[in-house]
Amino acid sequence: MRVGIIGAGHIAEKAAATLGAMSTAECIAIASRSLEKAAAFASRFGIARAYGSYDDLLADPDIDFVYVALPHTLHYGVTRAAIERGKACLVEKAFMACAREAREVLGLARSSGVLVAEAIWSRYLPIQDLAREIIASGALGRPLALRSSLAYNVGSKERILSPALGGGALLDLGVYNLNFVRMFGGAPIASITSHCTKFPTGTDASESIILELENGVLATIDVSATTQGCNISVVAGETGYLVFNDTIHPTKLSLMRKGHLLEKEWEMPFEINGFEYEFEACRKALLTGALELPQMPHEEIVLVMELMDSLRRSWGVTFPCD
Ligand SMILES: NC(=O)c1ccc[n+]([C@@H]2O[C@H](COP(=O)([O-])OP(=O)(O)OC[C@H]3O[C@@H](n4cnc5c(N)ncnc54)[C@H](OP(=O)(O)O)[C@@H]3O)[C@@H](O)[C@H]2O)c1
Repeated sequence: MRVGIIGAGHIAEKAAATLGAMSTAECIAIASRSLEKAAAFASRFGIARAYGSYDDLLADPDIDFVYVALPHTLHYGVTRAAIERGKACLVEKAFMACAREAREVLGLARSSGVLVAEAIWSRYLPIQDLAREIIASGALGRPLALRSSLAYNVGSKERILSPALGGGALLDLGVYNLNFVRMFGGAPIASITSHCTKFPTGTDASESIILELENGVLATIDVSATTQGCNISVVAGETGYLVFNDTIHPTKLSLMRKGHLLEKEWEMPFEINGFEYEFEACRKALLTGALELPQMPHEEIVLVMELMDSLRRSWGVTFPCD
């Protein structure tokens, strides 16, 4: 799979390192708004081609697959342009700035016969299948509560502060917690209550979200872009609870009993750095001609975007796309 990366920023560096260590995919080009920046990135990661505009990369016929690593409000235009060029896309989370954009892009992808996926990397980790097996085995008894926290102090970044860039804690961090609830809740969401604090710029800084699911499960989410948190998620049942050692990139599951007694632990280290699984899932889909990934189907992408739209609406956090 010959990959082009769009945007030479923070997460693009991680993806370039991942692709550099994979034998089944290769990053052949990087695009930045600045040719100088693209060239420096290319030489740092041993990438053959550097482009000084995103369009120039999309025009490269040797690229099969584009990884979109831009702030949220820029995902829509670049992904549309990539689909129009017939390039498969892996778009960083949050997939788009709002659900309308997600529906439009996915509709275009489907009618154009182009694979489009969301790079919500927690979804693709093999340890999630193990967690599903443990829960389904009845080891926790009936699951009745989910707790998911995620906090990084990223509140000084322009990308987080700016409504014009689709900033805020929810689209950057809370998207993982909502996905955790969707992965392990076992039923549709019946009701949501929430509260957020905001940055002076109007984007959400921290939030608590409580979701009641139709099967009676209660999910509690804590998200913050201003503190360094413990970033742990838990599925709790009648007889025990399963602790995920990290909400975004778990590598260890711990089955706990009353009195915080550890009964069993499972460890699943990454082969590279955890990003390899989303690229590998895309590569497999390209081989079979699939247009979406089973780990994060299009319907699910839209549902999570709709949840985030409704939370933002209730908080009065608005973006240009609203
Ligand atoms: N999977 C993860 O663990 C993870 C972690 C962090 C972020 N992300 C996601 O990755 C995406 C990018 O986040 P990031 O942290 O990499 O962002 P970033 O470093 O702040 O920005 C990414 C790049 O976007 C380009 N860009 C284009 N227009 C811009 C503008 N007006 N302002 C700022 N940048 C602009 C810049 O690249 P050029 O100057 O080269 O054009 C910039 O380097 C987001 O969707 C974010 O949610 C994912």
